[in-house]
Amino acid sequence: MEIVIKPDYETMSRCAGDFVEAWLRRKPDLVLGLATGSTPLGLYRDLIRRHRDEKLAFARVTTFNLDEYIGLPADHPQSYHSFMRENLFRHVDLDPARTHLPDGNAAEIAAECAAYEAAIRSAGGIDLQILGIGHDGHIGFNEPSSSLRSRTRIKTLTEQTVRANARFFGGADKVPRHAITVGVGTIFEARCCLLLATGTEKAAAVAAAVEGPLTAMCPASALQFHESCTLIVDEAAAVGLKRRDYYRYVYDSKPAWQQWEKSAG
Ligand code: F6R
Repeated sequence: MEIVIKPDYETMSRCAGDFVEAWLRRKPDLVLGLATGSTPLGLYRDLIRRHRDEKLAFARVTTFNLDEYIGLPADHPQSYHSFMRENLFRHVDLDPARTHLPDGNAAEIAAECAAYEAAIRSAGGIDLQILGIGHDGHIGFNEPSSSLRSRTRIKTLTEQTVRANARFFGGADKVPRHAITVGVGTIFEARCCLLLATGTEKAAAVAAAVEGPLTAMCPASALQFHESCTLIVDEAAAVGLKRRDYYRYVYDSKPAWQQWEKSAG
């Protein structure tokens, strides 16, 4: 795992923008896995700016989102379809036909999940997977005790996740209890994972994911086993990392040919 610690949310988001841009320049037909939630908003704003000011192109990119609530109409303001449209898709030159989210209103949820997995496979697999992390260590909506080999399926959100997402819905009672999420096993097959975390409220989850045991009780800990995983976190989210000075030393000592960051943050 590569751990990159940035002073604040803005520099963390810009650094993540550099990471995504480096991938895009290398592979303009990137298959990009996307997350929703508050954490990647700064990254999405940064990518929109790069598209506008630096002509960073998304025209050949294919996207797959991690998850969608079950039972919310796709045009509901809190659906992840709406989230992605408002916060990224409509601001860049992505081809709508190449953007994918699970259909939380499918008549046959199991068939929808199987079709989503098949679509990822037929796109050639995910090159770069963007991830946030839940307070309980979830990635996507793979809550604690999710099989580390799980595939796209229905999950019941924990009470903690429902409470955390109540801020978007104006009350916990309005948050759907179920979602379709790609599995930990599906995430694990991405060629590269980029996990972002911000704020002290994520510090315990980040520490468990990076320095804790590999366990289904913290699904993000599965990333310790991933061949190519970078975490970019701000100082606040890094406070629980015992070896943070070491991670800083490693990052600062990177040979020039391995560097992807454009500007020091
Ligand atoms: C949503 C997703 C979730 C979030 C996590 C953190 O697509 O993948 O795992 O990343 O719940 O959410 P925020 O960023 O809102 O704290």
